Amino acid sequence: MSRMTVNGRPVQFDMDPQTPLLWALRDAANLTGTKYGCGAGDCGACMVMVDGAALRSCLVTIAEAEGRYVTTIEGLSHDRSHPVQQALVAEQAIQCGFCTPGIAMAAAALLERNANPGEAEIREAIPNLCRCGVYPRLVKAIERAGRVARRAERISAAPAPGIDARDAASAVPAMRAPDIEGEIE
Ligand code: FES
Ligand code: FES
Repeated sequence: MSRMTVNGRPVQFDMDPQTPLLWALRDAANLTGTKYGCGAGDCGACMVMVDGAALRSCLVTIAEAEGRYVTTIEGLSHDRSHPVQQALVAEQAIQCGFCTPGIAMAAAALLERNANPGEAEIREAIPNLCRCGVYPRLVKAIERAGRVARRAERISAAPAPGIDARDAASAVPAMRAPDIEGEIE
């Protein structure tokens, strides 16, 4: 059993401790925003934040995540108002949507450390693979997200695409809080 906090909620995974965090999030917690790309640490599609740092969840076991704070794309904001989410939409830096959650998490972790990163730092902090070559727009979007984070600019929140993001982050039947019997409503 491995206990941790996922998107602000205490959870325990009754799984083999060597299970990759990626599988626990996707298959047990139903947080499918975190994507499986290569499973080998190369693509970044599985990136989540662990204690504020961007990590590839395919390379982290749930035993290694024990006691830590995990944030997935569903928990980045409840209304898509995170500066990275707003800027990715505003700069049209999203194409397939498969690699985007991992990119957003890597960018969010970067801005936690430095809200005013230069291009070289952005490129270094975003190792994620994007087959459609959206990188120039990504740099612009992350620079813009930094301005929003520093309150030097405002972007209107992107409209929700028909699903309540709060539901996506909380409707996870397999999540169980420690010391509580049964599923969390
Ligand atoms: S699935 Fe984890 S890096 Fe590709
Ligand atoms: S936007 Fe996903 S591969 Fe390029």
